[in-house]
Amino acid sequence: MTIILGVNAYHGDSAACLVRDGCVVAAAEEERFRRVKHWAGFPSEAIRCCLKEAGVSLSDVEYIAINSDPRTTVWQKIAYTLRRRPSPRFVLERLRNQARRQSLKAELARAFPGQTFSGQVHRVEHHLAHLASAFLVSPFEEAVTLSVDGFGDFSSAAWGVGRGGGIRIDGRVHFPHSLGIFYQALTQYLGFPHYGDEYKVMGLAPYGEPRFMEQMHEIVRLRDDGAFALDLKFFRHHRETIPYAWEGGAPHVGTLFAPALEKLLGPTRAPGEPLEQKHRDIARSVQAMYEEAFFHLLDALHARYGLDTLTLAGGCAMNSVANGKVRRRSKFRRLYVQSAAGDAGGAIGAAMHAWHSLWESRESLQATPRALEGDAVIGRPFVMEHAYWGPGFTDAEVAELLERDERELRQRNCIVEHVADENDLCRLTARSIARGNVVGWFQGRMEWGPRALGNRSIVCDPRRADMKDILNAKIKRRESFRPFAPSILREYVAEWFEEDFDVPFMMQVFQIREERRAQVPAVTHVDGSGRLQTVYRETNPRYWRLIEAFRQETGVPMVLNTSFNENEPVVCQPREALDCFLRTNMDMLVMENYVITRNRVH
Ligand SMILES: [Fe+2]
Repeated sequence: MTIILGVNAYHGDSAACLVRDGCVVAAAEEERFRRVKHWAGFPSEAIRCCLKEAGVSLSDVEYIAINSDPRTTVWQKIAYTLRRRPSPRFVLERLRNQARRQSLKAELARAFPGQTFSGQVHRVEHHLAHLASAFLVSPFEEAVTLSVDGFGDFSSAAWGVGRGGGIRIDGRVHFPHSLGIFYQALTQYLGFPHYGDEYKVMGLAPYGEPRFMEQMHEIVRLRDDGAFALDLKFFRHHRETIPYAWEGGAPHVGTLFAPALEKLLGPTRAPGEPLEQKHRDIARSVQAMYEEAFFHLLDALHARYGLDTLTLAGGCAMNSVANGKVRRRSKFRRLYVQSAAGDAGGAIGAAMHAWHSLWESRESLQATPRALEGDAVIGRPFVMEHAYWGPGFTDAEVAELLERDERELRQRNCIVEHVADENDLCRLTARSIARGNVVGWFQGRMEWGPRALGNRSIVCDPRRADMKDILNAKIKRRESFRPFAPSILREYVAEWFEEDFDVPFMMQVFQIREERRAQVPAVTHVDGSGRLQTVYRETNPRYWRLIEAFRQETGVPMVLNTSFNENEPVVCQPREALDCFLRTNMDMLVMENYVITRNRVH
């Protein structure tokens, strides 16, 4: 048995995963345990969770794989530094960050007293780990593989081909050019200052017109080889230290854009200032520019390799709007993006890369090739078909919590019921949803990656035009322009969407069929699109049954699915789910087989 622990540490979305004999056994992000969004630092609690789920201790771990290897790009860094002559502070800060990343064993000793890790540390360059996080868990024997992000190990994009258990990198975009930095800088300019706010610009974009493309083309230049470059006069990151806080707590990134950007586009929008049409138009132009560069690169990659399979990773692979257009705007026909496409996913990429490197070098390692649908077989033992790799809790653990809080629940007029039969549980929950209630749905193992996919979700009726406002008033209080997403039974995708593909991780946006839009207004974005999750009986039977019960009740095979939280990270344990229920105006909470209601709503 070979156990490999993969980690993404000292970076946003710090995370860990455990790979046993080439198969992912557990994976989780540190933010869920620390209760701080995008938590950056050493993922000790995620490691603890992975070891517990796998039933092993740190001393059983043979390798720790980390998604950073500063040595790989040292010559590019030296050459760049000599050319640019940055301030000594800039160089010192980067060296310090590097030193922190090297201190893995010391951190482990602090976090796990009494347990000793005596294995080896396997470092995997940041973008190789991104590429591995997609290709090595994909259902493809061969694919073009692409990673696009802000930066990692001095690159912002990398591409090549994956075959069997190996990946060959053929091209890169180096610091300081970066599509991720372009999107992040423009997100800051539009008044969304937090790490990870880019999805707000993506949500705002359909409300605007692409009136600023001329300006966008000044900022981003497309190159003949398919790559891209920034006009650096609009940016600061290449010549001064941008304060990045990666040491525990919420990550913070300093201002990335230079005053020249305000000369080009006008004054920035301060956070909280009203959103004007101009801001919507800029958001639309930013998204359009990103898509133009993304598809320019995809076209070059398709022409170069002639393959129609594609795997995507890196922070920019979270751009589900662009991902959803891959089949329409490029020649790629099959696409795989796993649930933690961003830096958290690097934990899995590093671990899978380590395992496949070992597999090639050690005869003793056994791997059963994985059979796929039809006659297809891939020479790897694992395909990530679902995201349920986090901690799970038993009915007994939920019962214990509810007993402990019995008095408070009674005082708050809450009714607790245990429904042993899953069909009954799904039927009564579906009926409650169809009556317009907001239902917290907590079951099974927590999702890996930022999306709630039916195990730590809030579910509602997609048919009600006012559901978005109800949800925002009762719980979410988020910007009114942001859409809510549908979870749909896989069997019905073609009837409701213009495309009919697997989207198990909510990583692609498709157009909802025009004639269907009025039936599901709560999950139809202003441009007629929906960021769907396709739900499978095989990988999430209880969630599938809930939606099937809702279909039988209403004729609609989908529910509105949003993450189970207010503004904090998605709930992880039953305690956090119950607290969120009690703190908000949620109508009903289903935790495993327990149903908690206020004044009996079903
Ligand atoms: Fe990255």
